[in-house]
Amino acid sequence: MFNARVAPRVLPNLCNAPRSPPFTALQSRQLSSSSAPKNHGRRVWIRAFSIGLVVGLGATAFQGFAQAHAEAPEPITLKTKKEILTYKEDLRDRLSSQHLQVKRSWESPGVYAWGSNTGRVVAPDSDEEFIKTPRRIPFFDGVLLRDLKLDRKFGAAITEKGDLLQWGTAYSSDSRLPALTLRGKDLVSLALSRDRIIALSSGGKVYSVPVSKADQASGPKISGGTWISLWPTPANISYRLLQPKELQWGEKVSVIRGGLDHVLLMTSKGRLFSAAASGEEFPSKGQLGIPGLTWNTRPAGPYDQPHEVTTLRGFHIVDIAAGDYHSLAADRDGRVFTFGDNSLGQLGFDYSAEAIVIDTPSLLPIQRLYQGSDMTPRVTGVSAGGCNSFFTIDATRVVGQGDDPPQRGLGRVTADTFSCGQGIWGGLGNGRWTHVQGTPTKVKALSGLFEWDESTSSIVPIRLSRISVGSTHTSATMDNVTHVGANAKTPENDTNYGADVLWWGGNEFYQLGTGKRNNLSSPSYIAPLDTDADKEKGRRGENRFQITPRKLVRVNERNVNLEQRVECGRGVSAVYSGV
Ligand SMILES: *[C@@H]1O[C@H](CO)[C@@H](O)[C@H](O)[C@H]1NC(C)=O
Ligand SMILES: *[C@@H]1O[C@H](CO)[C@@H](O)[C@H](O)[C@H]1NC(C)=O
Ligand SMILES: *[C@@H]1O[C@H](CO)[C@@H](O)[C@H](O)[C@H]1NC(C)=O
Ligand SMILES: *[C@@H]1O[C@H](CO)[C@@H](O)[C@H](O)[C@H]1NC(C)=O
Repeated sequence: MFNARVAPRVLPNLCNAPRSPPFTALQSRQLSSSSAPKNHGRRVWIRAFSIGLVVGLGATAFQGFAQAHAEAPEPITLKTKKEILTYKEDLRDRLSSQHLQVKRSWESPGVYAWGSNTGRVVAPDSDEEFIKTPRRIPFFDGVLLRDLKLDRKFGAAITEKGDLLQWGTAYSSDSRLPALTLRGKDLVSLALSRDRIIALSSGGKVYSVPVSKADQASGPKISGGTWISLWPTPANISYRLLQPKELQWGEKVSVIRGGLDHVLLMTSKGRLFSAAASGEEFPSKGQLGIPGLTWNTRPAGPYDQPHEVTTLRGFHIVDIAAGDYHSLAADRDGRVFTFGDNSLGQLGFDYSAEAIVIDTPSLLPIQRLYQGSDMTPRVTGVSAGGCNSFFTIDATRVVGQGDDPPQRGLGRVTADTFSCGQGIWGGLGNGRWTHVQGTPTKVKALSGLFEWDESTSSIVPIRLSRISVGSTHTSATMDNVTHVGANAKTPENDTNYGADVLWWGGNEFYQLGTGKRNNLSSPSYIAPLDTDADKEKGRRGENRFQITPRKLVRVNERNVNLEQRVECGRGVSAVYSGV
């Protein structure tokens, strides 16, 4: 297969010796010489593997070439840029699964999903109970999305134009295809509650839409303009607007995060609001962060009016997260505040029967996690889902007590990840199955990692670019150095590679994508999304899934700034092409 397509061609402008030796032999030598570890020490194992493969292929190709050469003395030469690119790309695809994964993500954007399918969310057209490994949802082939969020019984996505798509049995029991529901609002991001979808528009408006199609049809309708025209057009679906009062001039809601019954709204000025978000239950576990607020004590007006979390006034909030019944907020000075349900330690405080719920935002003493070390921690991000919380921390080496200058590594930053909450599914990611974890515990696999950055010639900490937390499982996307610059001008061994993604936690619905059902208590890799494409290139299952970072690429004859994103939901997972 290899020799038939490639061997009879010689590339004079790529190999300096046009006729002999045949490029395949030269190629394999070049590759072997490139196997020296250089700076990318940690990528060596992938390379070492692919080199064995290519050297093998090279040898067969050489025989093929010798035969072809004997029959046809005039070798075909590649002239056009396109031909050269095609030739190089073919080689790169054979050389590296990572390269092929990046390419496929650009050539055929779309949604891969897996996990529980009893709500027909991950495979809307199928009645299978589980989807055990990543599978495409054909509806989304070639479709780019602004956001996507999944629950076991319903899915929601925002199209590239800002309209809401919904599917799953909780939307409509006969739903087999995603349907457009709320349109013309220029939506940018979503949060899901138990039975409503909270959607944020680019202008900072917050819509609360019932999940169920029947409720959308029967509920009261607001008439209002779309973002394109101010002409009032009656909405044909029922929704509510969540409008924080007393926003300042130029201040708007910029980030939303939701739990089962509540939603947090962060504004562009670093203020935090919270509101009831489900039609079934008023938040009753302190997750709103308003001391004393219950259904009975709520103020006059809509039950879901946003309340400012006044305890946090004066702290500039930069990141928020919500689990089923709890909330987290990090400020720009690296502090983190938690409130809500602490029955499994998800607030980061040890369990106490007297304080199972904490309705006042409480400062987490993260310095204690570094006690006895010469490190000063600051929280750089928070994530949550189900009964788990995650904190990413930058810890800076400072002058310690025993230090007699000069010290080594002063000022060096280490990036760590901590978790707390429920561990019975392995969701803490620390290798243990603890029931209740109050004090945050370090996720070793995602902490203290460094790599060499060629562009700055320095050792840099590897941070996480994103953590997505479902109800029992989690995925972390590493912020590794990535490479998506291979083109017709760069050498044929210049292959692209994306960022690593690790998975752990509950696997009761095959939501980890491993193809097996056992829970995992340590972050692990999964196979590439498209194993068939790898098989076509003669590779077996040794490679791992990597995600394509943001890049301006051509999709359907237009330029789009595209990246892949992972989304973990309630027993379900997906990877989508995000704009
Ligand atoms: C590609 O091969 C060249 C020539 O042998 C070598 O110098 C270079 O380091 C290789 N590049 C990569 C990315 O392996
Ligand atoms: C709203 O209108 C669209 C088409 O105009 C239709 O497909 C959809 O079912 C309608 N929704 C409701 C809840 O009536
Ligand atoms: C990213 O970092 C992890 C952790 O150090 C490492 O195992 C992995 O090989 C790196 N990936 C790439 C593509 O460099
Ligand atoms: C995964 O964890 C849950 C909760 O501990 C347990 O009920 C289930 O049996 C575990 N699954 C497997 C395959 O061990």
